[in-house]
Amino acid sequence: MLEAYKLNKQELKGKDFLQLSDFTTDEILYLLDVAQELKALQKQGTPEPHLSGKVLGMIFEKSSTRTRVSFEVGMLQLGGHAIFLSSKDIQLGRGESISDTAKVLSRYVDGIMIRTFSHESVEELAEHATVPVINGLTDLQHPTQVLADLLTILEHKGKLAGLKLCYIGDGNNNMAHSLMEGAAKVGMNISVASPAGYLPNGKITEQAIQVGKLTGSTVMVTNDPLEAIKEADVVVTDVWTSMGQEEETALRLAAFQGFQVNEELCKHAKEDFIFLHCLPAHRGEEVTAEIIDGSHSVVFDEAENRLHAQKAILKLLLA
Ligand code: CP
Ligand code: NVA
Repeated sequence: MLEAYKLNKQELKGKDFLQLSDFTTDEILYLLDVAQELKALQKQGTPEPHLSGKVLGMIFEKSSTRTRVSFEVGMLQLGGHAIFLSSKDIQLGRGESISDTAKVLSRYVDGIMIRTFSHESVEELAEHATVPVINGLTDLQHPTQVLADLLTILEHKGKLAGLKLCYIGDGNNNMAHSLMEGAAKVGMNISVASPAGYLPNGKITEQAIQVGKLTGSTVMVTNDPLEAIKEADVVVTDVWTSMGQEEETALRLAAFQGFQVNEELCKHAKEDFIFLHCLPAHRGEEVTAEIIDGSHSVVFDEAENRLHAQKAILKLLLA
């Protein structure tokens, strides 16, 4: 099946990239394949200008280091250009509608990347845009990050299907949700450990369980970090307070006690586990410095892979 995608490279052209559940297993594996190819070409110093003359508009309603820089550099490396559009500066921030913004931007640019709060806003933008829309993070999903995470796991472990990934911390956030969707699609087992009140979205969990039945992936949600991390190949966490939740910081700090990824907890993972964190991280909260700066951590490979994974998305959707 993957061979079929390699032969027919038009398959994903024009599609939106809103969440991983919109893509088949083969499409995700194909994106990872192209990402590896583009990464190798870039490292060899022979990048190809697949997006020569193309422009990506990037709307940001939240802060970003990695997403902004990797999309902008990715477009440049592919021969195109990216325009940074802060919602503080464009008319969207003064109340212009999402649908009008989508229609206007579609007349100028070849693709739109958006980072915002509500997932529905991205869906609305995609509905009215006539160019592909890429989700650069919403409160519900962070699919470009998880594509980079899958690439990182593949590079370090040589496979995805059959591995066990555990996610410890805020289950009701964008990273947990996209990881559940991504793991289920590629046949990777996933266990999520979160305190009561912070469990993953029920609909996304149920969908991941159903997808897992087809791909051979198991999906487990628990309140017990020890149970989740047992024999894990990949250990993942994320901040306890995501962007937009700052007022709940104290409440969350208390709720997540016992859910820190530290050396004691990681003794229960496989000896050769790798540690992932999308960053930015809070050392001493969701993860200790010993773990994130230690020998199991691959967080900077993961950050680099944002660039390569997104170049695959851009090439296949926009070229
Ligand atoms: N991981 C991630 O999306 O980082 P930024 O918020 O810096 O873009
Ligand atoms: N869950 C985090 C991810 C940051 C990249 C947030 O939404 O703030």
